[in-house]
Amino acid sequence: MTFGAARRPFDLCDPDTLLQRDGEKWAAAGEGMLASWVADMDFPVPPVIREAVLRRLDGDLGYPAWFDESDGGPLGEVFAERMRRRFGCTLEAGYVRLFTDINQALLAVLEVATERGDGVLLHTPACPPFVSVIEHMGREAVTIPVDEGPHGWEFDSARMERAIARTGRRCRVLFLVNPHNPTGRVLRRDELQALATIALRHDLLVVSDEVHADLVYSPHRHVPFASLGDEIAARTVTLTSGSKAFNLAGVRCAVAHIGPRSVRKALDDRRGLLFGRVSILAVEALKAAWTAGDPWLDTVRAVLDCNRRRLTERLPDGIRTWRPEGTFLAWLDCTRLDLGTDPMNFFRDEARVLLFSGLAFGAPGEGFVRLNFATYPNVLEETLNRMHVALNKR
Ligand SMILES: Cc1ncc(COP(=O)(O)O)c(C=O)c1O
Repeated sequence: MTFGAARRPFDLCDPDTLLQRDGEKWAAAGEGMLASWVADMDFPVPPVIREAVLRRLDGDLGYPAWFDESDGGPLGEVFAERMRRRFGCTLEAGYVRLFTDINQALLAVLEVATERGDGVLLHTPACPPFVSVIEHMGREAVTIPVDEGPHGWEFDSARMERAIARTGRRCRVLFLVNPHNPTGRVLRRDELQALATIALRHDLLVVSDEVHADLVYSPHRHVPFASLGDEIAARTVTLTSGSKAFNLAGVRCAVAHIGPRSVRKALDDRRGLLFGRVSILAVEALKAAWTAGDPWLDTVRAVLDCNRRRLTERLPDGIRTWRPEGTFLAWLDCTRLDLGTDPMNFFRDEARVLLFSGLAFGAPGEGFVRLNFATYPNVLEETLNRMHVALNKR
């Protein structure tokens, strides 16, 4: 196989070149291993982003004029326009604030909107580090296990009601991840509506992490939680970044659209005191992604869509999964294979494939691994081959 003459962008890549990378995903993989764990894509930087950052490097790198973000900051209009264009969702540009990452935005919102001891609802399995962040802040993570139904993972609203009833705590927040990491579910409007009804009944603030919203496969569609109506928008904080769809995790910039006025005001009062500000280069990168990155994104999404189909066709016998509706992550149930509580160890040692341990996603992750299929098709093929061979050898 030659790696010099790919027919289309993203067709072929020599895995040895990936192993030279110094980011967490590949740096953690030993010699000759394939890394399929951290949620970074293997694809190169989108050219429009590279050009925008280079232009800024040739310009002014002093303190930016947008440090006062009370009007929505440098990405307010860009974000609102994107939400309108892609999801038909009307949001207020002036309600946008910037954070270095989604986790930091969640921390800041919990700090100003809740008190120690308050309950924060979230579905499990949950992407690390959210449960530990909530607990380190002295809030209680009130978990809602997702159910496996006949058609896939279900985000049952009755379970959420039961979780609220079960905990002796005052629940103040629903932290919703949609599209969901790690199950790949994209919640339908009726499912979201049911969660919204409970949020209204219990007067919950909803923090909606929609970082995978641009990575949804037809016929599924992303419905922003804040689009469910004015009453819901007024109690919703929408979080996103370019980390997933545009592969910008190291760039460190996330946006929060903060519906509740009281939360916005509390955060504005603390800006510069409690948390820092994002980099001018990060703002340029995200602006370029969200204004001129869609052709790149369309190409990448087509590659990911093929990968997700290939993955579900080629999974070794005994591993179960539901085809992801969004994200580039597959949640693999290995419980029938007798590989112990953490099958990551088996695939790392016997297949030389580094997957994400299901245990990192909480108790429901026992016997599971998460596979990241945002890579070149030949690398995915090799990953699956190695898993087949290791299992056949047992
Ligand atoms: C659901 C979800 N939220 C947040 C993040 C982190 O995003 P960021 O690095 O932009 O904070 C990830 C990363 O995988 C994620 O999957």
